Amino acid sequence: MNIETKKIDGTKIASIIKQEVKDAVEAMAPETVGLSVITVQTNSSAQIYIKNKQKACDYVGIKSQIYTLDESSTTNNVLELIEVLNDSHSVDGILVQLPLPKHMDQSTIIAAISPSKDVDGFSKENLAGLIAGGSSFESCTPLGIMALLKHENIEIAGKKCVIIGRSNIVGKPLALMLLNEDATVCICHSKTVNLANEIKTADILISAVGKAKFITGAMIKPKAVVIDVGITHDENGKLCGDVDFDSCLGIAEYITPVPGGVGPMTIAMLLKNCVRAAQLHV
Ligand code: GUN
Repeated sequence: MNIETKKIDGTKIASIIKQEVKDAVEAMAPETVGLSVITVQTNSSAQIYIKNKQKACDYVGIKSQIYTLDESSTTNNVLELIEVLNDSHSVDGILVQLPLPKHMDQSTIIAAISPSKDVDGFSKENLAGLIAGGSSFESCTPLGIMALLKHENIEIAGKKCVIIGRSNIVGKPLALMLLNEDATVCICHSKTVNLANEIKTADILISAVGKAKFITGAMIKPKAVVIDVGITHDENGKLCGDVDFDSCLGIAEYITPVPGGVGPMTIAMLLKNCVRAAQLHV
């Protein structure tokens, strides 16, 4: 089978969304939209993600403020900062960059963010909203994936979706979003027996594993939609995803590249959530 594989251009789709956000921010003037980012200085890739978020905020007119704590900071230091930001009228969204150092209590920290400012959608209140309805904010990467699928008019209802990865940030919320759109969803993880069999059944395959070129063309169902959430480096140090992109060409119907696929969409959705937060706070 030789299918013409369509590359989904996340950068282009994200730029359309960013323009919409820019217009929305301008329309809110003189009210402003403010995002506070808390990061604990650990690895350099987190710093790159934060720079990208800051750049995107600047572009759309969102006022971002980065708080960089040093590695010796405690859970209480972060909680104190969150308390100040929760009470500040100029702060609409609060984001704590993950992962945090091991000595910090991540769940207590996330729980301290006011749900109405939790633009990452990580709080229990917002996650529960995906099941019961009424969520203020949904997690940005799954939202970005749903937006990519919708932008390409990819049918979701009745499709078998296989998600590899069960994190609270990607796998679990994405499963609920797809289920809410009438997909048949399978979540795979490190204990899944015969992962290859599950992958082969996927009409829509979403990989969030973090292993370079883990998925090859031979593993996927012909005409599958392949969404790559991984951001890693190959043996030559080149940025790549979970999917061996070239080997899927001619087999997949759609595929997202890394970089330029899901990544820019995550940021675009964060910006959208910030505007939503500001509208809630007016
Ligand atoms: N670390 C990896 N992805 C994310 C994300 O979407 N939000 C935050 N806060 N941290 C992350």
